[in-house]
Amino acid sequence: MSAPIELLDWPENLPEWPKHLLSERFRRENHGDFPRWVEAINGLPVAPNEASVQLQTDAVSCKLNLNADATRLLHEQLMHLHPWRKGPFQIDDIFIDTEWRSDWKWRRLSKTLGSFKGQRVLDIGCGNGYFGWRMLGAGASEVIGIDPTLLFCMQHQAIQKYFQDPRNWVLPLKVEEIPDSTPFDRVFSMGVLYHRRDPQEHVDKVFNLTAPSGGQGIIETLVVDGPDSLYPDDRYARMRNVWCVPTVNDLCSWMTKAGFSDLHIIDVSTTTLEEQRSTPWMHFESLEHSLDANDPTLTVEGHPRPMRAMVVGHKD
Ligand SMILES: C[S@@+](CC[C@H](N)C(=O)[O-])C[C@H]1O[C@@H](n2cnc3c(N)ncnc32)[C@H](O)[C@@H]1O
Repeated sequence: MSAPIELLDWPENLPEWPKHLLSERFRRENHGDFPRWVEAINGLPVAPNEASVQLQTDAVSCKLNLNADATRLLHEQLMHLHPWRKGPFQIDDIFIDTEWRSDWKWRRLSKTLGSFKGQRVLDIGCGNGYFGWRMLGAGASEVIGIDPTLLFCMQHQAIQKYFQDPRNWVLPLKVEEIPDSTPFDRVFSMGVLYHRRDPQEHVDKVFNLTAPSGGQGIIETLVVDGPDSLYPDDRYARMRNVWCVPTVNDLCSWMTKAGFSDLHIIDVSTTTLEEQRSTPWMHFESLEHSLDANDPTLTVEGHPRPMRAMVVGHKD
C-alpha cells in the first residue's frame, strides 16, 4: 500500500524549503510501522457532517456526531497511533489523555505571550502539532511545525482528517534542514535544545529564523539550578540523547550571544508526576520511572530531577 495523497501536502509559501524530503520520509521503507499507521488513518470513520472544532479549550476538540459503532472504530484506529505524548485531544466522544498535560505548558506560555493575532509561527520539534492548534486558537494566521519523528506527523494527519485546517502543518523535517530564508514572527523551540549537541548553534538558528524588527524567539528547555550547566556522560532521566541541561543563566547568555535582546524568563518549574505520566494512550514508562525511588529530587542516574524553563527574546 502506498501513502494516501493527503500525506504529501506542503505549504506553498515555503519555496526554498526541502520539499523533496517530505515524499522521501513519508515512505514505507523509512519505518516498519509506516504501512500500519497509514492503514489506521485510512480506516478512521467518516464523519456524517463537517467537524465543529474548538481550539481554545485545554483539550483541542472536535464534534463529529459519530454513532456508537463509528466511535468504537475511532478509538481503535487512534490507538493504532500509540504512543500519544502531547495533548490532550477530544475527538468527538474519545478523549486522548496524552502522556503530557501540554495544556499546562500552554497556560504558562500564553499568560505571558498573550495574543498571536495575525502571526506566522514556526514550532521547531512540534510533536503532533498540539501547540499549533492552541496558537491558531490564540489568533495565529499560520503555524509551521517541524518534527522528524514520523509517528507524530502521522498523529497530526489523523487529527487533520477531521479538522481539515490548512493553517497548521507538521512536516517531517529537522531544524538543521531548513533554510533561514523565511523568517517568522514567533519561533518556538520547546524541548529541543537539550537534544542538540551544540546548544549555541541551535539558539543561533532560532535567532536566524526570527523576523527582524520585532520578532520573538521562545526557547523552552530542561534546566538545572546553578552554578554550572550539566553535560551528562550518559543518560538523563533515562533519555539517551540529552547532551546539555543548561542553567537559566547559560540559556540567557546563549540567547544574548545569538543576538536576542530584552530577554524575559516566562517560567521555571519542576515537572510533576501529574503533568507527565503514563496513561492508557501512552502506556510506556514515564517520569515516575525516571526518578530515584528513594529520593524523588533525583533522577535514576543521580542528576537533579527535571525542571524546565522558558525564555522569550526579542529581535530588533
Ligand atoms: C521533548 S519533545 C518536545 C515536544 C513539544 N515541543 C513540547 O514542548 O511538548 C522534543 C521533540 O523534538 C523533536 N526533535 C528532535 N530533534 C529534532 C531536530 N533536530 N529538529 C526538530 N525537531 C527535533 C522530537 O522528535 C520531539 O518530538
